[in-house]
Amino acid sequence: MTRCDIHPSILSADFSRLGEELQRISTADAAHVDVMDNHFVPNLTLGLPVVERLQAVSPVPLDLHLMIEDPDRWAPAYAEAGCASVTFHAEAAAAPVKLARELRAAGAKAGLAVRPATPVEPYLDLLPELDMLLVMTVEPGFGGQKFLDVTLPKLRRAAQAVRAHGGTVALQVDGGITEETIVRAAEAGADTFVAGSAVYGAEDPGAAIEALRGTARRHMG
Ligand code: DX5
Ligand code: ZN
Repeated sequence: MTRCDIHPSILSADFSRLGEELQRISTADAAHVDVMDNHFVPNLTLGLPVVERLQAVSPVPLDLHLMIEDPDRWAPAYAEAGCASVTFHAEAAAAPVKLARELRAAGAKAGLAVRPATPVEPYLDLLPELDMLLVMTVEPGFGGQKFLDVTLPKLRRAAQAVRAHGGTVALQVDGGITEETIVRAAEAGADTFVAGSAVYGAEDPGAAIEALRGTARRHMG
């Protein structure tokens, strides 16, 4: 079956009890962990020592989203910590090919992220070096923002390139994903969906994951 993965973002979880919050999303395909350094984005979350503890207790693989400057220096340690995938930003990396190779060599999947206004075309030749491409559908930095429809044409072009490459690269969307917007993201070709407030804001996160997965699957090409 084609990939259709739901990655709840723990940015919307209760930070005072992250271990329990991970247990509440045990039916997810991975937990999305947002690392912010207060420089690349105007917000500060958590870093390696916390991620190492999450990695030790999580019932699902960790999908790291590094919104940090100088990922060339800091990202490999997250792969060495055992995170399943490590995504860094194209705007921040000095040597993305070298970094992606280092992440893979450390046993993680390598992901490349682009902000809403960053074109994806300059990076398409890098697809053989990548396991995931993340098209941000909000400006990175905060949960609970509104999905930016202006990113949909870029998502469609990225999906075309990923398909032409053989479909091995996951196409992730992150930001403003709800029961409503996941329809447009899935139709545009995304196959991996991050959802923070839509999952942790729900009464029953497990039911929210199932509902998002079902809706996405019905609208994927
Ligand atoms: C935003 C983060 C997202 C965030 C998404 O910069 O990268 O992962 O948690 O939150 P929602 O789904 O609420 O937009
Ligand atoms: Zn994220």
